[in-house]
Amino acid sequence: MKILIIDDKKENNYLVERMITKLGYEAILAENGVEALELLFKFDFIMVISDILMPEMDGFQLCKIVRCLKKFDGLKFVFYTATYTEKEDEEFAMELGADKFLRKPMDPQLFLQEIQKLLQKEQADHDYRKNYIKKPEKEIFKLYNERLINKLEKKTRELEKFKQMDGERLRAQKIESLALIAGGIAHDFNNLLVGILGNTNIIQTDKSLSIEVQDSLKDIEKATLRASELTEQLLAFSKDGNIIKETKDITPIIEESISLVLRGSKSKCIINTQKNLPKVEVDSGQMTQVFNNLLINANQSMENGGEIHVSIEVVHISDDLEFPLPYGPYVQISIKDQGVGVPQNVHQHIFEPYFTTKEKGNGLGLATCYTIIKRHGGYISFKSNPKTEPGTTFQIFLPIFEQNYE
Ligand SMILES: Nc1ncnc2c1ncn2[C@@H]1O[C@H](COP(=O)(O)OP(=O)(O)O)[C@@H](O)[C@H]1O
Ligand SMILES: [Mg+2]
Repeated sequence: MKILIIDDKKENNYLVERMITKLGYEAILAENGVEALELLFKFDFIMVISDILMPEMDGFQLCKIVRCLKKFDGLKFVFYTATYTEKEDEEFAMELGADKFLRKPMDPQLFLQEIQKLLQKEQADHDYRKNYIKKPEKEIFKLYNERLINKLEKKTRELEKFKQMDGERLRAQKIESLALIAGGIAHDFNNLLVGILGNTNIIQTDKSLSIEVQDSLKDIEKATLRASELTEQLLAFSKDGNIIKETKDITPIIEESISLVLRGSKSKCIINTQKNLPKVEVDSGQMTQVFNNLLINANQSMENGGEIHVSIEVVHISDDLEFPLPYGPYVQISIKDQGVGVPQNVHQHIFEPYFTTKEKGNGLGLATCYTIIKRHGGYISFKSNPKTEPGTTFQIFLPIFEQNYE
């Protein structure tokens, strides 16, 4: 007794074939609906096990044709699908006259049990077939299109997400390689600065120096300290994988940054935290850097001061296209200012190391944020459209691990 197995992926076909032959049936393989129909007319089959998404003629179309022909009345039709897995897909399949709808992957034992159960039945125990024949062609066609469009939309979304992830990978690679170079230079540079600063201090102890020389020495000292701050920042940006993560509440870390950065400034910060926020795994020193940088930028964007709104809450990333993140729960931190905003034409540059629009900027703040957040398994992005709305909102996502989730 023959069973027809249809799938455009050869390896899938062989897997099913192996299971079926174990039951003592003869398996014949086809790669699409057209091939399957030819075989159906040539040989006698007791059952069809068909994939849905296939070239030339898909499983739905094949089922519909088979159920229109009296010759195949006794033929059992099983869908075995990995792509059309929604409830509506199953409903439509049954409506077309399928006897069973199975989703891949399935435990082989269970699969065989289902197949055997169905084969032992004399007659299908429902009258979907009759139902189908009564249903107007137009309605069936509409349902078919709906399922197809749903599938296509899902595929398109998957592809877009994949494309976005790829762009993201490139960006991360570029920044990481720059971080490596910057880190190497910063190390050597810092050592040189220590020498300059030390020697300047030694000369300064000489009380016989003229006022002019003493002033010059002070300038050297000041410049060296500034240079040292800069290298500190370079080092932070380039710090390699050795971050020390601890399970922490993120709120106090950001509150500390707020009070440090905004002390004495014209800006005010309003913070909103969701109750019972789960803890996250963070290197608090590095996260402080992130918040400092973002708050400094927010404050700088508002020349005459203004409000900075910080909100912290749990979000679930699902099929969302917007963020290239794995699905799951995240703590989302938003920092929203009322400043000048980021013009559209610089949107794609602001995370680049050394990109700045400020006279005294160094363009390392956001690049540092980006690398740090990336190393925490998170993501940082921003929204700004100064033409329609003032201000900029930065969003940070930090993954929540199961053990920290209540
Ligand atoms: N909150 C903000 N509002 C407007 N523009 C911003 C904001 N944050 C960052 N930017 C833009 O991104 C650029 C890069 O920021 P950053 O890396 O921190 O370097 P820097 O602050 O030294 O310029 C800034 O020069 C500015 O153009
Ligand atoms: Mg900055």
